[in-house]
Amino acid sequence: MARLMGTKAVKVEAIDAQRTKETLLDLGIIDKTRKPMKDDGKVLFPVDDARLDDISILSRDGISFEIVEGGCPPNDSHRGKRLVDLLEGEIPGELLDLVPTSFNIIGKIMILEIDPALHDMAPVIAKASRLLHPRLEAIYLKLTGRIGTYRTRDLELIWGKEDPVTIHVENGCRFLVDVTRTFFDPRLAREHERLVSRIAQAGFEPATILDLFCGIGPFSIPLALLDQDLEIHAVDINPVAIHLLDRNVDLNGVNPERITHRAMDARDFMREASEANISFDHVILNLPGTSHLFLEHAVHLLAPRGRLYWYTIAPDFTGKKESRGISMEGALARLKALDLDGNKEIPSPCTKGMALATTLGLHVAMVTRVKAYAPYKYTYCIELSHSKG
Ligand SMILES: C[S@@+](CC[C@H](N)C(=O)[O-])C[C@H]1O[C@@H](n2cnc3c(N)ncnc32)[C@H](O)[C@@H]1O
Repeated sequence: MARLMGTKAVKVEAIDAQRTKETLLDLGIIDKTRKPMKDDGKVLFPVDDARLDDISILSRDGISFEIVEGGCPPNDSHRGKRLVDLLEGEIPGELLDLVPTSFNIIGKIMILEIDPALHDMAPVIAKASRLLHPRLEAIYLKLTGRIGTYRTRDLELIWGKEDPVTIHVENGCRFLVDVTRTFFDPRLAREHERLVSRIAQAGFEPATILDLFCGIGPFSIPLALLDQDLEIHAVDINPVAIHLLDRNVDLNGVNPERITHRAMDARDFMREASEANISFDHVILNLPGTSHLFLEHAVHLLAPRGRLYWYTIAPDFTGKKESRGISMEGALARLKALDLDGNKEIPSPCTKGMALATTLGLHVAMVTRVKAYAPYKYTYCIELSHSKG
């Protein structure tokens, strides 16, 4: 499907235009299908409508701006073109149907996710991709899905600079990501934002938060930036992720006293916390395939008023993005009632976790379908608490 043109523009004083341009380009927010323009002593930069939250970074850089509708005229020859259009005549016609319709871009790095039948043509596809995304600095070919404890992928550099670390902007924060050695999925941006605002609205203050599989910090950093009295404990077994989280604390001007981070196994952290009689008001368990194995220990660390956010994988048992008023028994019954054939079987981490949560007497506050995980399967966030309501 052709990329839709944005409609919004950022308007700044001419004196701030150069700095604004550099920042927007660095952040990859400029909509290149339209041209900047001058208007009554001010300058308008076309921006990606889906990234408006990220533009708040300009204020932190001391630039005052307004977001306006339209104004910027369409840009050059590649406007509205799809990757498949650029590849016509470049790759065998029978393979054109396999050309991807969306891009996975982290900062200035593209991860090319293509059918193995196209792997030999990866350099040609990379060249065409660069025409549509001229500010890329590197393109990696994805060789595997997420593997190992660190949930990383095997990638092969097919074009550009041999540096897998890039700055990605998400929900108004800047994140250093190592695309080869740390987990990061830009498709989780909306979920990161949703959970942060859910926690912000819980109304517990002061509150302690445990982000047990924190990665490079896409929950912890925006939580630490909230104007609330929150104490955040971030844990990940991958030392590279924790190193980058530490740098992301600096990069976003987070008060380091608000966030502690540890590179260690979640089980060891929970054992230490339990021995020290520490409890948490919010516990985030974002390790969808395995987090049911950590559920029981995490529940013991949950404060009486606390909320636990358990991520798991399941077929679509809710039929909608957000559901309330479901009981754990009801959720299990819905899953079992689904008419699934052998290929679509219910993943056992999900049913095991639900059975355990029932035994532990937990209540379901909310169920959120986060994103597609695999054919017929979705990542879900199941919000649990000790008491109803
Ligand atoms: C699915 S990623 C989620 C990262 C982050 N929460 C996000 O949203 O981007 C899961 C993370 O769990 C970490 N992990 C896996 N097993 C772990 C364990 N036993 N203890 C602590 N962290 C672990 C991995 O290194 C990875 O960074």
